[in-house]
Amino acid sequence: MTYSLNPNVLNLPANPLRRIFEQARPGMINLASGHPNPVYCDSAGLEAASQLAAQDQSSWRYGASSGDPDLIEALSPWLTHADNTSSLITSGAQQGIFLACQALGQSGQTLLVPDPVYPAVLSVAVLLGLDIMPYRVSSVSAALEDVKATTETQSNLCAIYVLPTFANPNGDTWSLEERDALLDICAAANLPIIEDDPYRELWFQTTPPARLIERAAERGLDLPVLSLGSLSKIVAPGLRVGWVQGPIALVSAMTAARQAADLQPNSLAQRVALHYLLSGSLEPHLAKVRGEYAQAHHDFASELENVGFTRLAVAGGMFVMPHLPETTRLEGLIEHINAEGLLVAPGSAFAIDTSTPSRQLRLCFASLPRQDLAKAGKKLAKAVETWS
Ligand SMILES: Cc1ncc(COP(=O)(O)O)c(C=O)c1O
Repeated sequence: MTYSLNPNVLNLPANPLRRIFEQARPGMINLASGHPNPVYCDSAGLEAASQLAAQDQSSWRYGASSGDPDLIEALSPWLTHADNTSSLITSGAQQGIFLACQALGQSGQTLLVPDPVYPAVLSVAVLLGLDIMPYRVSSVSAALEDVKATTETQSNLCAIYVLPTFANPNGDTWSLEERDALLDICAAANLPIIEDDPYRELWFQTTPPARLIERAAERGLDLPVLSLGSLSKIVAPGLRVGWVQGPIALVSAMTAARQAADLQPNSLAQRVALHYLLSGSLEPHLAKVRGEYAQAHHDFASELENVGFTRLAVAGGMFVMPHLPETTRLEGLIEHINAEGLLVAPGSAFAIDTSTPSRQLRLCFASLPRQDLAKAGKKLAKAVETWS
C-alpha cells in the first residue's frame, strides 16, 4: 500500500512525557501527569446528571454547531460578559486552541508561545504549518520584554498564545498590571491574543485578576482576544466540554471551521454538563476541591522547601515548577527519583528546546489524594536531598 502523508502530520512532535511514562512500574507514585485524581471528581453528581441526560431527547439528536444554547446559558456564571462577543462550545480547551490557531494563522506565519509551554500547543502549530517564536516566562517581566521586542521586529505574527492564570507548566499567575501591560503591547502591534484559561476556577484564597478578554473590553481596547475555558479541570476531563469566547465574527469563523471537522459538540456530553450545572452541584464541589488543592499544595510545598527547593508558591491551579536545591546534581537525577518509586517530569519536557537540561521539575499536586501527596512530597524531598 502506498500513500503519502501530509508532512505536517508526519512531523507531529512526540509527547515529551512519553519517555517518562516508559519508566512507569506498578506501584509507582505519579507526580508527572497533569490529571486530576478521581477522588476530586463528583461521581455521584455526574451519575445523577447522566441519568437525566439519558432521558432527555435532545441528548440523542444533532444540535447547533456552536453548542447547546441551554448549556451556554447555564455556563453563564463562568463566562465573560464582554460586549460584542459570542461563545462556541468546544471539545475541551484543546479544540479551542486548535480552532483559534486555525482561524488566525496561515501556514508560514508565526505563533508566539511561552517557554516553557503546554506541549500540545506545539502540535497544533506543526499541524497547521505555523512557525513558533518563544517568549520566556521565567518571570512576567521577561515575558513582557520578549513579547514587546518580538512585536517590534517581526512582521509575520498571527497571534500570541498566553496562559496568564495558574499556568501549566509553571503555575504562575499574572497580576492585573501585568495583564494590562500585555494588552497594551498587543494592541500597539494589533496582535490577536489566544488566552488559555482552563485552571481559572481552581484558586486557593482569592479569585484571580480579570481575564484578558474582560480587561480588554473594560479598557475599550480594539484588540481581538479569544478566551478558552473548560470543564475538564473542574468537572471531568472525559466530558470533553470546553468553550471559546471572542469577537462575534471571529467565533463564527471558528464555528464554520469546526463544522467542517466534527459538525457540533457531542450532544449527550453537553446535556450531562447542563444537568450537572443545573443541579447546583458545581459551586459546592469547587469549594471542596479548592480547599483540598490549597491544603495539598501547602503540605507538599513545605516538604520540598525544607530541603531547599525554591519557587513553590502558586495561588491556584494544579502545578508547581520548582527549582531544585542548588547542590542537587542533575546527572542521573530523574533515574534516581524513578528508582525511589516516583515519576516526575523534568522541566526540559516543557522547554522549546527539550535537549537543554533543566534545574526545574514540573509536579502536579492534584494527581494524588491529599494524604498520599504529603507522603510523596517527603519521599521526593529525601530522594533529592540524597543526590548532591
Ligand atoms: C494549558 C492547557 N490548555 C488546554 C488543556 C486541554 O484541556 P481540555 O481537557 O479542556 O481540552 C490542558 C490540559 O491539560 C492544559 O493544561
